[in-house]
Amino acid sequence: MTVTAGLNVSEQVSAAERVDVPRHVAVIMDGNGRWAVKRGLPRTEGHRAGVTSLRRTVRHCSDRGVQFLTLFSFSSENWNRPAAEVGFLMGLLERFVRRDLAEIHRQNVRVTMIGEREGLDKRILGLIEEGEALTCDNTGMTLVVAFNYGGRNEIARAIRRIAGEVEAGRLKAEDVTEARIAQYLDTATLPDPDLIIRTSGEQRLSNFLLWQAAYAEFYFPDVHWPDFDECALEQAFAAYAARDRRFGGLSAKVAR
Ligand code: IPE
Ligand code: IPE
Ligand code: MG
Repeated sequence: MTVTAGLNVSEQVSAAERVDVPRHVAVIMDGNGRWAVKRGLPRTEGHRAGVTSLRRTVRHCSDRGVQFLTLFSFSSENWNRPAAEVGFLMGLLERFVRRDLAEIHRQNVRVTMIGEREGLDKRILGLIEEGEALTCDNTGMTLVVAFNYGGRNEIARAIRRIAGEVEAGRLKAEDVTEARIAQYLDTATLPDPDLIIRTSGEQRLSNFLLWQAAYAEFYFPDVHWPDFDECALEQAFAAYAARDRRFGGLSAKVAR
């Protein structure tokens, strides 16, 4: 991409060749720890740098007209990390909401959380719900924060609720269709992700959006999350634009 002097980053991108952006982008923000260790820093510094990257990604996706951005911020398995690291991540989330919510609101971004709410620290859940309430009428991009999120946990919770409905006689076994299951997931009101990006070179889902990823396109840049910038995001969009999504059918070109 040619960088045009005197323009801010968004303007530089608009001056460059723009491709159509995916409607729903989901990101597994990975590699914070390795980014820090490579620099002789504690892993927590990587998480701190990761917040800058997160802020940048939200702004750029919103500017570029992405309609839904889902960020994997803490998995249901991340509780298995040392207590000090978990505590640091919780503090970081808390500070992020306190410092950045007003700016996110100003950007007309609507915030919503997916993941298990039960058992979460009341203060953290309260902050997240405050963010949801403040931004619920915003009409710009929807920022979906996957927090205490695991795909299997989400599916199990959905099935438990459906089983409860069947037990109570409100649903019949034959009502349990794909569409019905989707309605009971945390993502009930969201479209499936079109593009899933995982930074740091790892190529796995780690329990992210298992149901929803059925026909997502995957993109695995080699950079760690703190180094993932607007240019890297544009490269991901360009790679996505070159994909041929067939959904089990035939390519639009062949079908004609
Ligand atoms: C991602 O970076 C952040 C979270 C999982 C919260 P990591 O902490 O997983 O960094 P690596 O993968 O160990 O480098
Ligand atoms: C996935 O990354 C979770 C988040 C990015 C929040 P992990 O670093 O936890 O995944 P694994 O352990 O490498 O599979
Ligand atoms: Mg990791």
